[in-house]
Amino acid sequence: MTAQRKIILETRGLTKHYGGVQALNDADFTMYADEHIAIVGDNGAGKSTFVRNITGVEMRTRGEVFIDGAPVNFASPQEARAHGIETVYQNLALADHLDVPANIFLGREEVKFRLGPLSWLNKKAMNARAKELLEETGIKIPDLSQPVAGMSGGQRQCVAISRAAGWGSKLIIMDEPTAALGIQETTRVENIIRGLKERCVPVIIISHNLRQVFNLVDRIVVFRQGRIAGVLNVKEASGNDVVAMITGVDQGVHENASYI
Ligand SMILES: Nc1ncnc2c1ncn2[C@@H]1O[C@H](COP(=O)(O)OP(=O)(O)O)[C@@H](O)[C@H]1O
Ligand SMILES: [Mg+2]
Repeated sequence: MTAQRKIILETRGLTKHYGGVQALNDADFTMYADEHIAIVGDNGAGKSTFVRNITGVEMRTRGEVFIDGAPVNFASPQEARAHGIETVYQNLALADHLDVPANIFLGREEVKFRLGPLSWLNKKAMNARAKELLEETGIKIPDLSQPVAGMSGGQRQCVAISRAAGWGSKLIIMDEPTAALGIQETTRVENIIRGLKERCVPVIIISHNLRQVFNLVDRIVVFRQGRIAGVLNVKEASGNDVVAMITGVDQGVHENASYI
């Protein structure tokens, strides 16, 4: 008998309406702990909404979310992080005025002493850990003590990804992590994602780059007009299959597709 694969994330009927805008409708999604998944789809298909309504950025209209089989209803991204769900959002949430270690430790500052309203951050330990995390990702940032405002888009993205990858996470979600990056920076981020696979940390990556998607993930979930249009296995599907599913052309004739 083969061992049962562990399901890390499941959504049932996940739905989000913004007033009259039905951004996400009845998304049934299952992700196993040993896989990387890509979410693809046109702009406005509901990809980011899906993520935000899993990770507590927004409250869903209806539906259920399960992590490790247990129902969750995160009230904030911090709560999701406390459950081991790290997310790199499409619009990068770095604090511009803070340096790299402070950003990596944002909301998790290591406190040496806590005395009423006074606390001393363990700056030395934070710097050392931030340096270690960045080295693991192969990212070179000459001076960690500079505010991140002065860094390039790629360096900022790498800080955000190091932050996500560095917390022994259960699941990492990246919403278009390389959309604003150059070729070299994109390659670095892709290497980080591959490294996470080796470390058995599952990743959801939202991307428009099909080459990247086929190189990095096991399955592709296609969103169209606020719905999950289908799921494709990269070993069996072609780029044309994905494009057809994204656009809705040729609907229903793909033998490799499992329609939900
Ligand atoms: N805060 C919001 N208020 C109103 N409509 C929104 C909001 N966020 C997203 N939408 C709408 O929901 C739909 C899905 O958006 P989004 O999830 O950002 O798509 P994607 O990430 O696939 O490009 C779009 O029509 C978008 O305009
Ligand atoms: Mg988006």
